[in-house]
Formats: sequence, C-alpha cells, structure tokens
Amino acid sequence: MSWSKAMPANPVVAVAGATGAVGQEMLKVLEQRKFPAKAIKPLASKRSAGNRIPFGDDELLVEEMTPESFEGVDIALFSAGASVSKEYREAVVNAGAVMIDNSSAFRVEKDVPLVVPEVNAHDLEWHSGVISNPNCSTIQMVVALKPLNDIAHVDRVVVSTYQATSGGGMKAMNELYHQTRDYLDGNELTIEAFQHQIAFNCIPHIDVFHEDLYTKEEWKMVVETTKIFGDDNIKVAPTCVRVPVLRCHAESLNVELAAPVSLEQARAAFEAAEGVTLMDDPFDNVYPMPGLLAHTDDVYVGRLREDPTVENGLAFWIVADQIRKGAALNAVQIAEALLP
Ligand code: A2P
Repeated sequence: MSWSKAMPANPVVAVAGATGAVGQEMLKVLEQRKFPAKAIKPLASKRSAGNRIPFGDDELLVEEMTPESFEGVDIALFSAGASVSKEYREAVVNAGAVMIDNSSAFRVEKDVPLVVPEVNAHDLEWHSGVISNPNCSTIQMVVALKPLNDIAHVDRVVVSTYQATSGGGMKAMNELYHQTRDYLDGNELTIEAFQHQIAFNCIPHIDVFHEDLYTKEEWKMVVETTKIFGDDNIKVAPTCVRVPVLRCHAESLNVELAAPVSLEQARAAFEAAEGVTLMDDPFDNVYPMPGLLAHTDDVYVGRLREDPTVENGLAFWIVADQIRKGAALNAVQIAEALLP
C-alpha cells in the first residue's frame, strides 16, 4: 500500500531529536536551504523541553516529544535513536505525517524505501509513510559508486572506512575532546562512548559483532548498498574503523567493474555527478581530508588510480561530512523530493 496523502507546498516539519548532533544539523540544513516549511517543531526528551535553539535570526522552543506532538505535522525528521523511532512510528503515521528516519530501525523492511536522492529518488514513489535514511558510511559510498555503475556494472567493492566520532553523536565527539586533553595532561581516561580509548587510537569495531565475525556496521554497508541500487549483484567487502576525527568519514575503495573504465572516463563521470566533487591533484598534495572538509555537502573523491591487481579495477579515496551528507542533509534532500 503506498501513501495517498498529498504533501502541501509548505509543510509543517517536526525534528525529533532536535538537540542532538544530527538534529541540530537538520535544523541548520532546513534553514540554509530555505526549506519552505510553514512551521518547524523541534522535539526532544523531557530534559530539553523549554530550551531555545537558534534558527536563522530567530529561536525555536524545544518541546517534549509525545505521541500527540505529530498532530498537524506533515514531515517528521527523526534522529533520536532506533528505539525511539520504533516507539513513535505508529503515532507519526497515524497523524498523517511522513517519517524520514535516520536510525537503523526500519532500513531493511520491505515496504520502507532506503533513499539517497542522487541514486534512487524513484524509490520515494512507493513509500507508505516511512522512509529510511541509510547508514552514513553507505550514503557516501553509493553516491561515489553511482557514476561508475552508470558506465559499467560495479561487481565488487572492497572498502575500509575511517569513521569520525560524530557517528556516535554529541557524547562521542565530547569523549574525543576530553580523552585527548586527559591523555596530554597525564590524567586517567574516561571510556564511555566506545569500547576502547579513541584518543590517539583506531578501533576496528563499530556496533556489535555478528556470528560471521563482521560487525553490524559492516553488514549494513552490504545490505543497504544492494537495496539502494536494487541490485543483489553488487558485492561489498567492508572493514569499518573508528578513528580519532571529529567530523567527516573517509573511505578507501577498491572497485571491480564489469567492463574497463579508463581513468579519464572515471574522472569525467565524477566531475559530472550530482553531489560529487573531484579533488584529485596528488602531485600538488591535493586530495580530500576529513580535517578540512567538515560542514561541506558533497562527497569528495581523490587518489583516483587503477587497481592493476584485478581486471577492470579502480581505487580511490572518498570523504564526506557524516553529519551533513551522511545524515541531516540526506534527510532534508528526501523531504525536498517529497514537495509537490
Ligand atoms: P535530549 O537532548 O533531550 O536527550 P545524540 O545522537 O547527539 O546523542 O542526540 C540524541 C537526540 O535524541 C537528542 O536530541 C535527545 O534529546 C533525543 N532523545 C533521546 N531519547 C529521547 C526520547 N526518549 N524522547 C525524545 N527525544 C529523545
């Protein structure tokens, strides 16, 4: 059953989790892109009710989220964690609002489209009230794979991620700050957000381990990529690593294509692709880096070269701001695509 309610030109937009790292960025993106909202409702837990959040030259009052919060709402952007999304799904959909959910709660459900607008905006046609935003690592990878896949089928991808602490929310970013300071001051480190110390370290463990010895984060990159492309024949072999970076995930990709694609063709495809910026002049030390690309919108591609160890192989390196394209921006782009 697909959604029959028409979207008004000026929808009422709720942001659930508005005080969190992604929620605050959602508000910023709505404001920066001049989203034509009739009204914006920031929602969070009881702890934050009554707080004021800046919105352009104005301020918005944070309300406590309850099932009644969604009456009169047309679009609900959710980023308050998977259990909160599950708890509120029925209230949101029954109120007639479309839920755009940044959590992992519904991503693999058959009747829930998993959308990256540059890749599969057409999947928005069959939603039935809930649309999922993919995992941040998947989003940036599929945006970069799309222009190549349009030339020659992507048969296999070996990907290693270098993921920023922002993926764990505000608490995790603060843990990197505090641990770095404590480490330099010779103080004992407090470890709460990750399994191990993240300051001056890399942790090859994001989310829980599955029986097959891959992590859930790695599994997400496999199943989400095939769902987004609508193609079970794209094989993904991932390793996901947390690194001591505040914002922006980086990924190293080795791609095997079904037919030869020259470096010139690949460069031209990246240059023409929506949402991609080619930043690749290695002899001038030009390549994308997480420390320099925070608060940007595109997926940056660099270090493009042949992978001579396989047939039709290309290797490259990508960086994107996980909080923007990996979460808030992608959700707002979905909302824009729903406008009449
Ligand atoms: P609050 O700030 O009031 O705790 P992050 O991912 O950066 O940790 O942010 C999580 C977001 O989700 C915050 O805005 C947080 O609000 C919100 N949140 C967490 N649990 C709930 C809940 N049960 N009901 C409503 N909002 C919640």
